[in-house]
Amino acid sequence: MTAMLQPHTDAPLVAVNELCVSYGRIEALRGISLSVGRGEVVAVVGANGAGKTTLLRTLCGLVRPTQGQALVCGHDARLASPHKLAAGGMLHIPEGRGTLQTLSVRDNLRIAYDIRPSTQTFEAALAAVYQRFPHLETRQAQLAGNLSGGEQQMLALSRAVINRPELLLLDEPSLGLSPIMVSSAYRTLRALKEEGLTILLVEQNVKLALRFADRAYVLRQGRVVREGSSEALLHDPDFAAHYLGTH
Ligand SMILES: Nc1ncnc2c1ncn2[C@@H]1O[C@H](COP(=O)(O)OP(=O)(O)OP(=O)(O)O)[C@@H](O)[C@H]1O
Ligand SMILES: [Mg+2]
Repeated sequence: MTAMLQPHTDAPLVAVNELCVSYGRIEALRGISLSVGRGEVVAVVGANGAGKTTLLRTLCGLVRPTQGQALVCGHDARLASPHKLAAGGMLHIPEGRGTLQTLSVRDNLRIAYDIRPSTQTFEAALAAVYQRFPHLETRQAQLAGNLSGGEQQMLALSRAVINRPELLLLDEPSLGLSPIMVSSAYRTLRALKEEGLTILLVEQNVKLALRFADRAYVLRQGRVVREGSSEALLHDPDFAAHYLGTH
């Protein structure tokens, strides 16, 4: 009875089963299965070329799998357009941030706001973003393409604040940032996590990812080779020797 009243509450926001993706003859994903429950933060880690970005691009409808299933916020990612998945509650922040370089900071935020219906006016939502990122307000008329790397990441993450997604797919948020900006980006992410946002995060910086995530999957050459709680992986000497550079 409860299940009928609340059909989606317990369903994972990401459910991937035996997913295969090829680019021509290159098999980027070779039958991976994983899930992300509502409210969870899950990391996917692995070396260059392991298939991490391909996974996220498949989940947001940019790449079509050759086999397997992928459900995202209740939608079939094999069939839905990126726009439909975004309207359904998925926000993808790709490698390189995904901001619209020739538009101003404010217009980037307007577009992120317009993707999903909101109970707040744009002005109110914008005020909440600027309260969290006062620095962005001082740059609101500036073109996104002229922002510094750290400011671009701030703008990228602020899209997650104004858009209020159910699921954030995040590709290498620490890439190319100074240590101070990495800390600042992860402070924002922790706050979003505490507010209940579900996050699937891809990172090459394994230690950073595991300190933030509840669980993790390790990809190698398109396959899941390890999975477990971040706690267990961080304390596993074999895992540490291979992925954390410690013995
Ligand atoms: N558009 C494409 N066309 C052809 N091959 C691709 C394409 N995108 C990715 N690949 C290949 O698919 C494999 C997986 O790439 P992917 O970008 O998913 O890896 P990744 O884990 O994100 O790596 P990195 O950590 O370097 O970002 C690689 O062998 C890559 O060369
Ligand atoms: Mg990548």
